[in-house]
Amino acid sequence: VGQGSVEVLGRSYPRDDFTNVTAKVLAKVGRNLHNQPHHPLWLIKERIKAHFYSSYIGRWGNPLFSVHDNLSPVVTTEQNFDSLLIPPDHPSRKRGDNYYLNRNTMLRAHTSAHQRELVRSGLDAFLLAGDVYRRDEIDSSHYPVFHQIEGVRLFSNHELFSKVQNGEELSLFEGGGRRTPQKQETHSLEAVKLLEFDLKLTLTRLVTHLFGEDVEIRWVDCYFPFTHPSFEMEVRFQGDWMEVLGCGVMEQELLNSAGAGNKLGWAFGLGLERLAMVLYSIPDIRLFWSQDERFLKQFRVQDVHQAVCFQSLSKYPPLHNDISFWLPEGGESEAGREGFTENDFYELVRSIGGDLVEKVSLVDEFTHPKTGRRSQCYRIIYRHMERTLTQQEVRLVHEQIERSAESELGVQGRY
Ligand code: PHE
Repeated sequence: VGQGSVEVLGRSYPRDDFTNVTAKVLAKVGRNLHNQPHHPLWLIKERIKAHFYSSYIGRWGNPLFSVHDNLSPVVTTEQNFDSLLIPPDHPSRKRGDNYYLNRNTMLRAHTSAHQRELVRSGLDAFLLAGDVYRRDEIDSSHYPVFHQIEGVRLFSNHELFSKVQNGEELSLFEGGGRRTPQKQETHSLEAVKLLEFDLKLTLTRLVTHLFGEDVEIRWVDCYFPFTHPSFEMEVRFQGDWMEVLGCGVMEQELLNSAGAGNKLGWAFGLGLERLAMVLYSIPDIRLFWSQDERFLKQFRVQDVHQAVCFQSLSKYPPLHNDISFWLPEGGESEAGREGFTENDFYELVRSIGGDLVEKVSLVDEFTHPKTGRRSQCYRIIYRHMERTLTQQEVRLVHEQIERSAESELGVQGRY
């Protein structure tokens, strides 16, 4: 313990100029909502497992996909980024978007951080569930901790082509190829098309299993450094298209580095909270952390396939309070630090207001015509999930935020 180090899951990590984890976030590490029986995230994980166990059976009657849900969320930056071919200067590494224990260690930002180690350990098909951590904006669908399920499946030449007539004559790889929007340079087009078909079929069946036959799905092309081609699946929900997962054909360089260079693979990563919020009409992401029996008891079904009919708890009234300040002046500071970012303020609000804060939005920005100083105004919406807040308790929290913004972020209050 102490100033010099951060304690997580019984281990100690030396602090350095990258350290930015907060006590509030560290308190969530180890909660493992996805492993708490009858928690809604656990319930969705179990339904996904059950679907894969019953739909994909190996030659000896064994489940094809193995399931891993106990890997530590503390990973190296090498695992979270480098192992996935994310370049050293990639924006996703920003200190402002991640929780670093120090320069080399972080709370994983996605379950993809484990792809390479699990492939290297010899697995050909696996699901991996876990908690992931990102510094982000604050509203009813964003929270600094959420949960993902990663899926990976590898195919040998025989596995991919054995169902195709005369498939033995096809091959996964071809020399002298070029990278195109359809495929990577070393892949054959026929292999990639079959793989893409299998990936989309697998995910369409999964989402149909979860949402029912009537669900509307569409595929959108996108980009990830560790897959190509890459896609996002969107599901139509209350009239809007909502992104539920990212996926694609794994970069061959990743498989080569994991000792599986003779195979091709697909991977996907889906967010459990997103699915649960839609499936059960849960209105606010903070509810997943609620200990309130009126919330939790609704998910205590006998059988994971039994329908849950979630009765939304009536929401208690919100209170809102604005905060305005002048941003710190001055140019670039020390290496590795960006100047004031909006995420720094969101993080500070989170660390003081905790789950009382429902939403923070930037409502006004202003540059003084003479001095050129910039000022911002944020609106903070406070709401408790389980009771009505009083003006006094909100004022105490709000004043503490005002003071800390000045002392920790170097802003000058216009309070
Ligand atoms: N890791 C990606 C994310 O968190 C999702 C993803 C997983 C994309 C696997 C492609 C393959 O957004």
